[in-house]
Amino acid sequence: MNYLFLLASPRANGNSETLARIAAQSLSNQTQQWLALRDYPLEPFADLRHVAPINPDFPLSGGYGQPTGHSKALLETTLAATDIVFVAPVHWYSVPTLLKRYLDEWSAWLRIPDGTFKAQMSQKRYWAISTSTGANISEAEPLFSTLELSAKYFGCSLEKRLLGIGGKPDSVLLDAETLKAAKQFFMGD
Ligand SMILES: Cc1cc2nc3c(=O)[nH]c(=O)nc-3n(C[C@H](O)[C@H](O)[C@H](O)COP(=O)(O)O)c2cc1C
Repeated sequence: MNYLFLLASPRANGNSETLARIAAQSLSNQTQQWLALRDYPLEPFADLRHVAPINPDFPLSGGYGQPTGHSKALLETTLAATDIVFVAPVHWYSVPTLLKRYLDEWSAWLRIPDGTFKAQMSQKRYWAISTSTGANISEAEPLFSTLELSAKYFGCSLEKRLLGIGGKPDSVLLDAETLKAAKQFFMGD
């Protein structure tokens, strides 16, 4: 197995990442890759779906060609994974900008000429680890729903979700119940 931990917080060593690293301890025998989306900035998303195709042999590709730069690196890392773990704090009830932008890129990758993106993504498993200030647990629902529905787009579902309470870095460590849940998150995997 090859677990890709997609870190979506704009800050390093945030609570969501701390929680994910605790969860990942039980995966010590598995390949893990940790990728911070902030290290792979993307240009603003361009909707080229209905632009004249670059390659007339693939009309559904629209204006999308082969990805380059950070998009290419993110695509290759994504496709190499068997498991995608979204590690994302709640930002305004939803996913952080960095993760939303990454998900938008899926729309481009779906249209790579002669691509097999959708078929490959349908073979993966999806997980979600998040933190919020915890003032209201229901505030994390839009984030989890976004990720659940995004997995469902490929005929998959979230294997598991974990929500911790975080404010200052490492404040997530103060909640024993959350730590216990993190240690058990990948248990049996
Ligand atoms: C831009 C922004 C928006 C936030 N929106 C929410 C929110 O809607 N609900 C909530 O409970 N916490 C919210 N928070 C608090 C974070 O979810 C919380 O501090 C989280 O633990 C940060 O995770 P991190 O340390 O991994 O970056 C927000 C924080 C930021 C910076």
